[in-house]
Amino acid sequence: MTNKPFVIVSHTLPEAWLAKLYETCEVLVGPETAVTPALSPELEAQLHRADGLMTMLTVRVDDALLARASNLRVVSNMAVGTDNVDKAACTARGIPVGNTPGVLTEGTADLAMAILLAVARRLPEASRDAREGRWTTWSPTGWLGADLNGATLGIIGLGQIGSAIAHRARAFGLNIVYHNRSRSPEKEQALNATWLPLPDLLAQSDFVMVSTPLTPDTHHLINAAALQAMKPTAILVNIARGPVVDGNALLTALREGWIQAAALDVTDPEPLPADHPLYALPNCFITPHIGSAANGTRRAMAELAVENLLLGVQGERLKHCVNTAVYQP
Ligand code: DGY
Repeated sequence: MTNKPFVIVSHTLPEAWLAKLYETCEVLVGPETAVTPALSPELEAQLHRADGLMTMLTVRVDDALLARASNLRVVSNMAVGTDNVDKAACTARGIPVGNTPGVLTEGTADLAMAILLAVARRLPEASRDAREGRWTTWSPTGWLGADLNGATLGIIGLGQIGSAIAHRARAFGLNIVYHNRSRSPEKEQALNATWLPLPDLLAQSDFVMVSTPLTPDTHHLINAAALQAMKPTAILVNIARGPVVDGNALLTALREGWIQAAALDVTDPEPLPADHPLYALPNCFITPHIGSAANGTRRAMAELAVENLLLGVQGERLKHCVNTAVYQP
């Protein structure tokens, strides 16, 4: 036992990413690939004495967990999304919740464009056919995909990541329409983007990009009615959170041709079990929530989460806090 603050990091991360923590804190790290929403038993056993808790987006931080962590002064989520954290429960206990906006914006936008392109140009299928001997000639009508130049990309949620996607999409010649609860004239001008009511965006877009946080308002925002409102040639891309899309409705939409295809970096549930029917559909391309999975991006996320964690255990205001009500007198 030391006098240093004691912090728990829910998953193993490269030591260099946590270097600042090791300088000043007693640190306990969890396993590398814990898949449950609970902390590992070793971490749970020490939770009662933790001053700070650094979590990944797979860890559920609810009131019951907080009740077992009576010393806790900060929860630092290594993600921009904090839907895994009960913010109201943290606020009620005066615990600030940190997140990591900004540093993953460009990396996530890269991935969004990568999976949009992959599905638009049928890369998984074309690559599989080449590898498996079905590339018998250059075919004038083989593996035809969708053109991006001149097509319309509808972005639902033109926040930091949505804007970075729009910026890239402009370079591909896409016209940008977007839907946010409120309009942003500055972004419209900077990105040459047009605000549309959601039904109009769904009806007019060739590609629909879901880039909005998961909240009670956005849960199943893309439901059966929304999918039916889309073009039969449309491609849906979700890089936000799985439950923003109603998975059962999507399955029907892809089977019955309401839309042409989907590219999902996020699913509901996560991980999506290997026998899930979405994998069986040739028009559904799934990646395992890797939007921010680039070396420099993940390191920057870890370092920002460490910064928030250290500020929190020192009783200082977090650099990025999602429940600033804790700072109100
Ligand atoms: C986040 O930070 O919320 C992302 O989903 C992680 O990739």
